[in-house]
Amino acid sequence: MKEQLQAILTEVENAIPGIVKRSDFEAFKATISGPKGKLTDILKGMKNVPKEDRPAMGKLINEYKTQIEAFYTQALENLDALELAALIGPPIDPSLPSPDPAPGLLHPLTQTRRRMDDVFRKIGFTVAEGPEVETEWFCFDALNTPEDHPARDEQDTLFMPEDAKMGNVSKRGEERYILRSHTSTVQIRTMLAEKPPLRIISPGRVFRRDTSDATHSANFHQCEGLYIDREVTIKDLKAVLDYFVAEIFGKGSKVRLRPSFFPFTEPSFELDMMTPNLGKLSNQWIELGGCGMVDPKVFDAVGINSGKWTGFAFGMGVERIAMILHGIDDIRHFYNNDLRFLRQFA
Ligand code: DAH
Repeated sequence: MKEQLQAILTEVENAIPGIVKRSDFEAFKATISGPKGKLTDILKGMKNVPKEDRPAMGKLINEYKTQIEAFYTQALENLDALELAALIGPPIDPSLPSPDPAPGLLHPLTQTRRRMDDVFRKIGFTVAEGPEVETEWFCFDALNTPEDHPARDEQDTLFMPEDAKMGNVSKRGEERYILRSHTSTVQIRTMLAEKPPLRIISPGRVFRRDTSDATHSANFHQCEGLYIDREVTIKDLKAVLDYFVAEIFGKGSKVRLRPSFFPFTEPSFELDMMTPNLGKLSNQWIELGGCGMVDPKVFDAVGINSGKWTGFAFGMGVERIAMILHGIDDIRHFYNNDLRFLRQFA
């Protein structure tokens, strides 16, 4: 009997280290302690043991049973450890440098803005910036749009509360502050800060009281342009814009200037573009923005001699250009932070 018990104990002891699956453990345990197991058989055989030998025999079996169960416990601990290790992966060496994070990417609007910057930089424009919170004077008055001018209605919207702190925005008289409705404000800031000749673009965020839909957003981006020199003509304006659209939309792209009205340019034009390179959008005029020759009244407002200097200005929508370039049909995609959309621009 003792040999049999010892043989079972040895078998268990030898088998346990090789068991790596819970189902294997259960199957093995059944061969020992299950209803038809070897240890169970011995227990069943107790009834044939003479009565006087039973207490000693029972004690012996219990001792072996306790040892066998200790091996079972150890086997289960091994299995727990193995499963945990599988869950947390290979061991970590904390002294190694951390792995590179997944590469980020620039937002499609930033990518588009940078492309536009690059094109204009090549022909001598520099990038100028202005604040997003402006006074009415920079946004309208200096741009030849006095308070009672009808052109002002459309953009005369997002005013700041009286007590808002505006950082370093200069305050003229009792003016109210407004979220700028166009980047044309930077024309004025540039002309006040620097002397002609000037050649700047100014990309940036603008605000309108628009209800958001597929083509409108209360917050979007424009790129302003201003070119001042002696004897600048509409031919120069057209040449710059032709160059710009050919660089952005590819060879064969052209510009059409459609007579229009803006208070700060005279004459003024809508700026349309046509390209053969854009699939469904090819070969039709698409509006990109507005432009014209700087109105002498704007020069007067900033103290530039309009007898000596002439210039042109333009303003374009950055979203508009990105949407045309990438065939995006809803402006709201730009602002939703949906990685499925954004990852397409990696
Ligand atoms: N500021 C105009 C707008 O937001 C766009 C514009 C038109 C800008 C003509 C210009 C310009 O510089 O000359 O609607």
